[in-house]
Amino acid sequence: MDLETVRRAYSRWARVYDLAFGPGMVKARKRGISMLQLGREAKVLEVGVGTGLSLPFFPSDCHVYGVDISRDMLARAHERAAHPRRGLIEGDVAHLPFDDGTFDGILAPYVVSAVPDPVAMLREVRRVAKAGARIVLLNHFASEHPLLAAIERAINPATTRMLGFHADFDVQPLLDEVGLAVSESEKVPPFGYWRALRVDGAEV
Ligand SMILES: C[S@@+](CC[C@H](N)C(=O)[O-])C[C@H]1O[C@@H](n2cnc3c(N)ncnc32)[C@H](O)[C@@H]1O
Repeated sequence: MDLETVRRAYSRWARVYDLAFGPGMVKARKRGISMLQLGREAKVLEVGVGTGLSLPFFPSDCHVYGVDISRDMLARAHERAAHPRRGLIEGDVAHLPFDDGTFDGILAPYVVSAVPDPVAMLREVRRVAKAGARIVLLNHFASEHPLLAAIERAINPATTRMLGFHADFDVQPLLDEVGLAVSESEKVPPFGYWRALRVDGAEV
């Protein structure tokens, strides 16, 4: 999967995306943001912000920057970003246009398995996080149940091609490579199929 494949996939998805990832994911989004424990006027990054479905749930005093590679997804985020402390940037999460140690909190909802180079994304996220900043990933991660894991492996080529989404995504080796470790992990709705992982605070 390369950036052009991702752009094409989300250009198709943009029109219907909010139906699939809208109401059913609200609780998970709110939980992900609460795990960031943002202080007053915190500077926050959302990587792969998409259509901006999480933006309404950040505290209004926080400065939130959303980065995404898909112009079609971002076009649908503008209304949700119509706030003086919200900004949208078209760009690649593997090359973030921010200095080291810029953000107090970073949210990555449903994106780490959708990017062409998740290790580069995690490295960049780590680089732009302030010391002590919290980083939260929301995602589906490969099932530990053998039958479900086999199904996920079988459908993975199709979900990757059609949706730009890896159904059998195993994040642990990637975190190890970047020098991050899971400090908090919980199942989130819907169906407990998704997880919120906090991966801040680890040292290589
Ligand atoms: C499943 S959507 C998640 C959107 C949003 N985070 C949400 O919670 O609904 C994945 C998003 O990641 C974006 N994306 C994929 N690869 C990217 C990259 N390398 N850089 C920036 N955005 C990327 C896609 O364009 C898409 O908007």
